[in-house]
Amino acid sequence: MKQYIELIDKKLDEFMPICYPQKIFKAMKYTVTLPGKRLRPVMCLETCKMFGGNFEDAIPTACAIEMLHAQTLIHDDLPCMDNDMYRRGKLTNHMVFGEANAVLAGDALLTFAPQTILKNSKNLGSEKLIKIMEEYFHAAGAFGVIAGQVVDIESEKLLEMPQLEQTEEDDKLLSETLDYIHTHKTADLFKLALRCGAIIADATDKQIDSITEFGQYLGVAFQIADDILDETSTFEQMGKTLGKDKEEGKLTYTSLYGLEKAKKDLNILIDKCYKILEDNNLKSEIFNQILEKIRIK
Ligand code: IPE
Ligand code: IPE
Ligand code: MG
Ligand code: MG
Ligand code: MG
Repeated sequence: MKQYIELIDKKLDEFMPICYPQKIFKAMKYTVTLPGKRLRPVMCLETCKMFGGNFEDAIPTACAIEMLHAQTLIHDDLPCMDNDMYRRGKLTNHMVFGEANAVLAGDALLTFAPQTILKNSKNLGSEKLIKIMEEYFHAAGAFGVIAGQVVDIESEKLLEMPQLEQTEEDDKLLSETLDYIHTHKTADLFKLALRCGAIIADATDKQIDSITEFGQYLGVAFQIADDILDETSTFEQMGKTLGKDKEEGKLTYTSLYGLEKAKKDLNILIDKCYKILEDNNLKSEIFNQILEKIRIK
């Protein structure tokens, strides 16, 4: 894990020179190079390796997915979205560079990321590159993260709506909405990382299906953990503004089901992830480590 992270950090630095106008390149690089967990790029490289590919072939794609992730964080933190001051242990992008530059840095990363893949992965050939682009644009756009973020914002205060009754139908609507939010705002980028790693390794359709199912469960588990930690963790541990989900009346796994059920369901999802790996004879110490990191005791 440590070796992968060091490699990703080195490559991210190389892929992002500070060009003119420096302001925008500095703003883009600021959030990307702050110390995130690098889960998505690590998973991309590891999936490629797990399916018999050369993980070095996946480096530009893995780094691009981290750039896309940073874009979602920059925009997620904006005053018009979650309005947060801290990210990855430091001030958020808009606090440092101003709101306009943070919007532009996000926009710029969204296009710089696929450019990075195209420029640095010519060895993959056009067929694979087209597949990767399809995956990228699907996950990054209005079918993916953006869909999740729109419904996330829309669902603020949904729980307090007076017309909402405790009927079975309302409960079903809330749980389906929450699942939609988690699937798109979080699991879609996990699936992107895994699927691209698999595509680069020439995995079969069946293998891609199995890793997609794994990514769906893992992504939702990860967001449930994030929802729990927003209530129970500290700034020192998470490096970002916490406690706001409750304040803003966000629809989260804990606001809908409570802490205890959230922890229980999170661990059930983690176990499902292990089962998918086992059923498909996929062995990876890195994935085991990631699963144990997400589990909450
Ligand atoms: C934060 O993702 C956004 C969520 C999906 C909850 P990470 O927790 O992976 O953030 P970094 O990359 O480590 O900063
Ligand atoms: C994050 O959801 C999802 C994206 C950034 C796309 P949150 O809003 O819960 O993430 P944090 O808690 O700010 O990292
Ligand atoms: Mg948010
Ligand atoms: Mg947020
Ligand atoms: Mg959160």
